[in-house]
Amino acid sequence: MCGIVGYFGSKNAADVIISGLEKLEYRGYDSAGIAVNEGNELEIRKFSGRLSVLADDVKENPMKGNLGIGHTRWATHGEPTIVNSHPHFNKDKSIAVVHNGIIENYLDLRKELEQDGVEFLSDTDTEVIPFLIDKYYEGDLLDAVYKAVGRLRGAYALGILHKDHADEMVAVRKDSPLIAGVGEGEFFVASDIPALLNYTRNVYYLDNGEVVHIKGDKIEILNDKKEVVDKKLNKVTWDIEAAEKGGYKFFMEKEIFEQPQGCKDTLERRLDKDGHIVLDDIKMTKEELENLENIYIIACGTAYNAGVLGKTAMQKFMGIPVYTDIASEFRYNDNFVNEHSLVILVSQSGETADTLAVLRDSKEKGARVLAVTNVVGSTIAREADDVFYTWAGTEIAVASTKAYTTQIVSLYMISLNFALKMGKITEEYYFEMIEKMKELPGKIQEVLDNKDEVYEVAKQIVNKEHAFFLGRGIDYSLAMEGSLKLKEVSYIHAEAFAAGELKHGTIALIEEGTPVISLATQQNLFEKMVSNMEEVRARGANVIAIAQRHNKEVEKVSSHTLYIPDSDDLLSPVIAVVPMQLLALMVSDMKGLDVDKPRNLAKSVTVE
Ligand code: AGP
Repeated sequence: MCGIVGYFGSKNAADVIISGLEKLEYRGYDSAGIAVNEGNELEIRKFSGRLSVLADDVKENPMKGNLGIGHTRWATHGEPTIVNSHPHFNKDKSIAVVHNGIIENYLDLRKELEQDGVEFLSDTDTEVIPFLIDKYYEGDLLDAVYKAVGRLRGAYALGILHKDHADEMVAVRKDSPLIAGVGEGEFFVASDIPALLNYTRNVYYLDNGEVVHIKGDKIEILNDKKEVVDKKLNKVTWDIEAAEKGGYKFFMEKEIFEQPQGCKDTLERRLDKDGHIVLDDIKMTKEELENLENIYIIACGTAYNAGVLGKTAMQKFMGIPVYTDIASEFRYNDNFVNEHSLVILVSQSGETADTLAVLRDSKEKGARVLAVTNVVGSTIAREADDVFYTWAGTEIAVASTKAYTTQIVSLYMISLNFALKMGKITEEYYFEMIEKMKELPGKIQEVLDNKDEVYEVAKQIVNKEHAFFLGRGIDYSLAMEGSLKLKEVSYIHAEAFAAGELKHGTIALIEEGTPVISLATQQNLFEKMVSNMEEVRARGANVIAIAQRHNKEVEKVSSHTLYIPDSDDLLSPVIAVVPMQLLALMVSDMKGLDVDKPRNLAKSVTVE
């Protein structure tokens, strides 16, 4: 995610801003820039790549001035190039803006401004903002900002400077994080607390729609009606490391708890004003879809587990067979990829060597390649024909969590869009599914709010050597992800089994006290799943069930039931995976292991 730092005080603005941005590097970025007011001129410098490139430039060519804004960019619209990096500015460079978030109506605004004669330099949504402010500017910067922001739709945290206002900064917060800091005769704005802790622990937590107005020796917080808000100045007690984790103990925990927002961002920011899914950079036409001979979803690890669920949805919506495989196998199997194939590659990092190899092989065979990835400008994103970004935000922990749930949401959105385009589903069903998907963030949050129930189960598992995850149909795909999470971070030997297959051999492994996490979220398979749970319980297993809230009878065959909110069977994995993610996290923590960096693992496996 992007990082913003703004400063006004007695120190050198560039020094403070760059040191602040360094504390935000954990958020992930691909370019960096800064604007400093050097006495009624704005000096703007920006570079793609690491923050150190900007820092080295500023060291060689110092920037004077004690008022500035800086930015590290996590690209969403436009490649990570210099021209796309922030700050963005208007034609005469009198206004500079840094932005974190997504302006949903930027295309309409861009068109309006181009009709006014504006010539845009970048591909970004952000660049409309300085020109909008310029359009309304008549000497009062704050007033112009209010008028411009009133035209924006979407999510934005903004830092704004004007060359003729050498003692003034305006910052705005809506849906993207932003805080304000107060030091000794100096003021700060930032995306997150770590950026400020070397200078002050006194912060204002901004609410949506609030505006920070720094002018001379005053700071005011205003609401969307430009009325001064009486905000409490808070004292931060965290240390830097804790602050990077947003107060959570581990990045994995933070990222599990970011899933409601990630799923909301991935879905709702792509619904146009009529509620239709807009597939960004996917340009497949109805004819191209109808000419497809086969569709493959290929990935590794957690991304593969998400891909298997994507297959289920795609087959259900589009009514055609979809094949899935793990990338390292697919490359060497006789596959039927040809110029009539669509190969969908799922990859959080966009750098996984096995998946990238499939991309190149598939393109050689003339196939259309569509990437679902979380990293803009990653190799897989750049080499694919079409790209769909999960907007999960940076995922730091090696064990993938929010990427998985947003990958499922993404694959379902793509499937719905394709199926409607091909006339395979009615508009009614299309909108019904979208409405149900909109409920997912709230349902995930319900599970997170009841996380203590999972703790009881973690205590039963922490000292076990083996654990089994059972499921049927969609729940079997889900069991694969649950077992991967547990083994990855707790080092307990965990395996997923198709519940109906257990009696064909594996049930020999069940003994007194063996933990069996049994997924029973699918209504059409519920009875059969209950009898499979009975089978293992009869042989001494400790059956822990995960079921939808209305299925109370599951308690007859389980020692412990983790209920999830009722939902459409197809959507239940996005909710039911959360207790399993929490279970893995808690067991690993209880064992005192390195939750975020498990042994032998890398966040991105760039070797075959
Ligand atoms: C998941 O928790 C693991 N970290 C691993 O299986 C990962 O999903 C796999 O390596 C694929 O990575 P990618 O999504 O970045 O391609």
